[in-house]
Amino acid sequence: MAGRLLNAGSILEGSDSRIHLRPAFSRDLIMLRELQRRCFAGSQAYGLVTLLVLYFWPRSHIILACSGERIVGCAVGDSDRGQTRVLNLCVDPEYRRLGIATALLTGIEDYFGDQFVTLMVEDKNAGAQALYRLQGYLPVSDLRNYYGRNRHGILMQKQRGASAE
Ligand SMILES: CC(C)(COP(=O)(O)OP(=O)(O)OC[C@H]1O[C@@H](n2cnc3c(N)ncnc32)[C@H](O)[C@@H]1OP(=O)(O)O)[C@@H](O)C(=O)NCCC(=O)NCCS
Repeated sequence: MAGRLLNAGSILEGSDSRIHLRPAFSRDLIMLRELQRRCFAGSQAYGLVTLLVLYFWPRSHIILACSGERIVGCAVGDSDRGQTRVLNLCVDPEYRRLGIATALLTGIEDYFGDQFVTLMVEDKNAGAQALYRLQGYLPVSDLRNYYGRNRHGILMQKQRGASAE
């Protein structure tokens, strides 16, 4: 699949930077691990082994957001029995609030094309929840201690084609 060039003006207003989305290649995985470390605390950051498994797993797909050669965001998803799961979404702290996560999320949804899309988010992660709600995801259940002791998860789901509130 060829890299898709985003309309940079729509996500980086007033900037000359060009952000484009493209699928990950094996050569990207080291840089991707560094991005994970910048974005997630501790064990929530995917390590190289996890990234390799996801890269080679036939049902999963990794999309990157790049500024030139630099990887500034990623989304990882898979599809099983007609339902897409967003497994990971993150954007470099220096590139946040520019619409990159929104574009990556849409990229994963479109890549698999399933009607239902689910994801997990920590209950304290208000920023990510705001993003997901804007994109039409609704909370469907709570998973106590999903991220560790006293760190609860919220399962969110989107029905594509259904209008966002
Ligand atoms: C959550 C995350 C992926 C958002 O990436 P992003 O590229 O900044 O998101 P977008 O620019 O697409 O945000 C779109 C909208 O979502 C909402 N939003 C995003 N981040 C937000 C935040 N921290 N606080 C409040 N609202 C937020 C806003 O409404 C935003 O629009 P606005 O900037 O015009 O106000 C990024 O902050 C990140 O990588 N965080 C660390 C990793 C993480 O928590 N990943 C999600 C795990 S479930």
